[in-house]
Amino acid sequence: MPAVQQAFYKSGDIAQALLTHYNAHARTLPWRTPPGQGFANPYHVWLSEIMLQQTTVAAVGSYFQKFTQTWPDFEALAAAQDADVMAAWAGLGYYARARNLLKCARVVVAEYAGRLPQTEAALLKLPGIGPYTAAAIAAIAFGQRAVVVDANVERVVSRLFAVSTPLPQSKPLIRAATDGITPDTHSGDFAQAMMDLGAGICSVRAPSCLLCPVAFACDATRLGNPEVYPAKTPKAAKPQRTGRAYWIERDGHVWLVRRDDKGLLAGMRALPDDQWTARLDGDAIPPVPANWQKLPVNVSHVFTHFSLLLDIAVTSWPMDADDPGDGVWWPLKSLDKAGLPTLFRKAAEAVLNAGERV
Ligand code: ADE
Repeated sequence: MPAVQQAFYKSGDIAQALLTHYNAHARTLPWRTPPGQGFANPYHVWLSEIMLQQTTVAAVGSYFQKFTQTWPDFEALAAAQDADVMAAWAGLGYYARARNLLKCARVVVAEYAGRLPQTEAALLKLPGIGPYTAAAIAAIAFGQRAVVVDANVERVVSRLFAVSTPLPQSKPLIRAATDGITPDTHSGDFAQAMMDLGAGICSVRAPSCLLCPVAFACDATRLGNPEVYPAKTPKAAKPQRTGRAYWIERDGHVWLVRRDDKGLLAGMRALPDDQWTARLDGDAIPPVPANWQKLPVNVSHVFTHFSLLLDIAVTSWPMDADDPGDGVWWPLKSLDKAGLPTLFRKAAEAVLNAGERV
């Protein structure tokens, strides 16, 4: 970080300016306590932080409301049926988070009498809680000094200090710089102020430096090129996989299976498929012999490590035939209640929109 900048501004100036701005402009979010009004409910902080991993604030809102209404605390969540929690999570993606959410709630009830431990070190040992989430919970729910670095904070800090090393190599540098400007008190407000700054004023493509409370200390603003930070190593293109989903219909019902406990979308309800994976295309072998007809539509979906182009084959199942394996006949009328992950929801919509089927 440029020595000149360090000489002019003390790290405390940045924290002070940011906290003052946050006091006036903090976003109102359902899991937050407004600045200066004590700490937020730890269960709410934990739940929201897990949901917000890789997911936007806008997408999380309705899920947070549904979860807190259905399961208002750790005890309630720990006692929930796995399938109900997985279904309630459907659409949020990254389903390992939901499985870890349940595991974590059960550990908190069994080992901590239903209350989260308060230190980063103890939080880190819980299922689904990594360094970012442990720091965020310790700071926001318990007022501990913790260095909280998510993607928004990375962007803000790499601009403040014009970090030219690309991500991910710059992570340790960015963490050290964030540590250097994190105040000893109010570090939860400070972290959330940084996140708000990154989500609004210090946006990826068009930062509004004229409105920024810390522009006075920002090297990238001074250099006139904030959008070039954080520098990034170009990503390899995602592989494209192809696969097929199978729609088996009988008397207003569709046949749904539960996916394996391991692997992608583990344990989720789904349409049968042809065994595509992140590494291999599907084999186009149907789950059962039948009079299959391929629909003239495709569904595409982007996962973390690959994209999938899914086509769909449909068949009508005779009323007097045995069931096509392990699964359930799910009423089409209430398919929205099946907890299908987004990929299969898109496939179902494609089938239902295709009209006359079999
Ligand atoms: N993203 C992750 N945690 C957040 C929080 N507490 N406030 C706003 N955005 C967030």
